[in-house]
Amino acid sequence: MPGSVRLALALLAGPALLAGPALLAGCSNDWRTDMWYQPSLRPQQAPRPEPERSVALGASPRYESRDDTEQLANPVAPTPESLSRGKAIFVARCAPCHGVEGRGGGPVSKFFPEAPDLAYVKVRERSDGFIWGTVSYGGKAMPPGGEGLAPRDRWDVVNWVREIQRVSPVVTVPPPQPGGTP
Ligand code: HEC
Repeated sequence: MPGSVRLALALLAGPALLAGPALLAGCSNDWRTDMWYQPSLRPQQAPRPEPERSVALGASPRYESRDDTEQLANPVAPTPESLSRGKAIFVARCAPCHGVEGRGGGPVSKFFPEAPDLAYVKVRERSDGFIWGTVSYGGKAMPPGGEGLAPRDRWDVVNWVREIQRVSPVVTVPPPQPGGTP
């Protein structure tokens, strides 16, 4: 760098360096607009509790188990669209245990408490809300199946279970124990 340029830079930078802190000291408002001063949560620290009786925007009610959802009314009509969505989810998620037709004997049943025939009379008597809760939170032996499914998807599955029951004969022979079957 030629000497003259270096001199010019020093002349320019000198006052700027001196003026900077002076300007800041004279400024009464905090100039930081970043997230420096917000309360920060440490790893593993519990998030701030929600104010009492508050409900997060867009949150759905929380249930513990299928016993809590027994009274829920099915908000989704069994339209052809709902049934075809319900069938696709059933084949992907339920058929391994309950069989593609929902009549039991899916391949996983060999290694697991046997899944009941959904045409069994006691399953027919269940409310839509109870079946929705079984899919969402699991049963006595059945694992919860709600992960990755929106509430609406699960109602589509309930509609498909009802369709299976509609087209199947009423089964009165109890399903094999010890699956904790109804
Ligand atoms: C890993 C195996 C398995 C999968 C996957 C599975 N189930 Fe089950 N299901 C069971 C077993 C075992 C039972 C009987 C014991 C119980 O209630 O947990 C059962 C019971 C049920 C019942 C009867 C509940 C009652 O008490 O009346 C319904 C309805 C049902 N399942 C629907 C479904 C639907 C719909 C899916 C898919 C979203 C599904 N299951 C996925 C194993 C499974």
